[in-house]
Amino acid sequence: MSFRLWSLLLLGLSLLTLAQSGPPLRTLAEKHGLQVGAAVEPNLLLQDPEYAQVLAREFNLVVAENVMKWGALQTTRGQFNFAPADLLVEFAQKNHMAVRGHTLVWHQQLPRWVYGDFTPAEMEAILREHIQTVVGHFRGKIAYWDVANEVIGDDAELRPTPFEVLPDYLEKAFRYAHTADPGAKLFYNDYGAEGLGPKSDAIYALLKSLKDKGVPLDGVGFQAHLDLNFSPTAARMAENLERFAKLGLEIHITEMDVRLSGPGSKAERLQKQAQIYQEVLQVCLRQPRCKVFTLWGVSDAYSWRAASEPLIFDADYQPKPAYFALRRTLQQP
Ligand code: G3I
Repeated sequence: MSFRLWSLLLLGLSLLTLAQSGPPLRTLAEKHGLQVGAAVEPNLLLQDPEYAQVLAREFNLVVAENVMKWGALQTTRGQFNFAPADLLVEFAQKNHMAVRGHTLVWHQQLPRWVYGDFTPAEMEAILREHIQTVVGHFRGKIAYWDVANEVIGDDAELRPTPFEVLPDYLEKAFRYAHTADPGAKLFYNDYGAEGLGPKSDAIYALLKSLKDKGVPLDGVGFQAHLDLNFSPTAARMAENLERFAKLGLEIHITEMDVRLSGPGSKAERLQKQAQIYQEVLQVCLRQPRCKVFTLWGVSDAYSWRAASEPLIFDADYQPKPAYFALRRTLQQP
């Protein structure tokens, strides 16, 4: 029997085992009114049947890991390439999954031409054209947009960005997105702000100021790229999320993964990883405004930080202790 046939047989058996051991995450999550998502590279949907199968079976939301970023969509000014992102949207629609658009305004993965020497008026036209074209293209198909990503730096200050030549670029970005698709919920997304501290304080102040100006901002995404030290603690995270909820914002966990590197045996580290996934999911479930819990990938094989095995399926799509910890948590009433 060929290797490929063997691997498909093994996959079938492992999925059968998984199915026999209980319902998939998406089915359990829906009972809590929760969407459980994964970051996706659409080319893998064509290349790796196991990737597509596990994704469709376990998750009810997808987020474009890279194909909806400025650099992927408008590499050359005025020329848009939607094909990879359209493939992702089609897959999601076929598998009854919501879609998160990531991300309209970010200081990374920008094409070289965006760094030109533009006047405020020229940058306004560039920003407006990108957002109206992109959000307009996907109108009605995207549940949530990460309109702005990582605007606050690790020093709790506004990051340098080519868009800053236009002083109110952030407010304009949200308004352009809302006009282009009033049905999409618009989010600010960032990392390292899961707990209380200078960075989350700065994000809180920024989002409060946008809300006070009537900017169409619906929610905040906490990326949750964590490691085995899990700081903040779950209690501090819950306290932090509550203050954003009190602003009237929807709360999403948008990019969770937990690096496995650290001291201890692999078995001990896998258990610690499972515990952290479980604790963050519990924080989300206990926060009424937390509606989405997304992992930054399907399997360790394709993670942006694959070497640290941060996800809930290993490189052979075998569920790890973290998978079962999430499932046990979702099986609680
Ligand atoms: O598409 C090119 C390909 O043509 C080329 O051959 C290859 C080798 O140079 O590079 C490919 O682009 C890579 C891209 O991922 C798509 O695979 C870039 O080099 C690589 O830098 C890029 O990394 C992405 C990273 O964002 C960029 O900063 C990661 O996949 C992606 O997981 C990561 O995601 C970010 C979120 O968007 C925001 N939050 C943090 C998170 C992790 O950094």
